[in-house]
Amino acid sequence: MKIVIVTGASSGIGMEFVRQLDEEFSRMDEIWMVARRKSKMEEVAKTLKTSARIFPLDLLQEEDRSLFGKVLSVEKPTVCMLVNCAGFGLIGPFSELPLQEQMNMVELNCKALTSMTYMTIPHMPRNGRILQLASSAAFVPQMNFAVYAATKSYVLSFSRALQEELRSREIVVTAVCPGPVETAFFEKAETYGDTLKLKEHFSVTPQSVVKDALNASKRRKTVAVCGIPMKAFRGITKLLPHDMMLDLVQHMQK
Ligand SMILES: NC(=O)c1ccc[n+]([C@@H]2O[C@H](COP(=O)([O-])OP(=O)(O)OC[C@H]3O[C@@H](n4cnc5c(N)ncnc54)[C@H](OP(=O)(O)O)[C@@H]3O)[C@@H](O)[C@H]2O)c1
Repeated sequence: MKIVIVTGASSGIGMEFVRQLDEEFSRMDEIWMVARRKSKMEEVAKTLKTSARIFPLDLLQEEDRSLFGKVLSVEKPTVCMLVNCAGFGLIGPFSELPLQEQMNMVELNCKALTSMTYMTIPHMPRNGRILQLASSAAFVPQMNFAVYAATKSYVLSFSRALQEELRSREIVVTAVCPGPVETAFFEKAETYGDTLKLKEHFSVTPQSVVKDALNASKRRKTVAVCGIPMKAFRGITKLLPHDMMLDLVQHMQK
């Protein structure tokens, strides 16, 4: 059986991946949707042409991740695509945000993504595709978003190296790096800190992010940067010295 796996499928960018893949990706028999909220995934599943299998799992929990790994080893599906969207951010000074929640950010954004990727690769055929949700926050350290930006730098670095390792197997790994996207992400991110000013000026829709990301993956791109402002931002991060870049980001946050 040919499948696509989407984590974070109950909301925002992950849910939009499910919808666009259902419309456009003809290579699959089933979409496997992973997130905690079963009812949200069931609502989406009802609207799809492709049959969906729902995995209500908490990816912060090692046992839940292993359970998913066991299903893969027993059923041995062909995984045509893995989209790792489950993730969250918290805005605020590192020393003032609760430690446990920041540790959870590392656990979900880095460890769970790494573990899902590791468990899936053995089931991928030639031309398999992996899309990892990083962020434009990956390009440069960000004060008041310190742990989140660091987790996304990890995703970007990991994905680029993995792409080189998997080149001989013709598996494409794309790190997706949007700026602010209009999803529920900020409801959680703003629990303790003010919204980033950046968001008001540069927000894009999940529809456009997913369309760009799928196009980039189809064209075998390693990094998908969504929208002209974020492409310009990435260009500047490559040109300016690190200290100047940190000052600029601080200024942009005000
Ligand atoms: N929105 C932005 O501005 C933006 C920008 C750049 C990158 N990103 C990245 O894009 C990805 C998707 O974010 P989004 O904007 O779509 O936010 P979102 O609407 O809040 O979606 C987050 C998804 O992650 C899932 N999730 C959270 N905790 C989980 C857990 N413990 N176990 C399993 N699933 C969990 C949520 O499902 P449940 O709550 O049902 O578990 C939900 O489906 C994230 O990695 C985020 O960092 C977002």
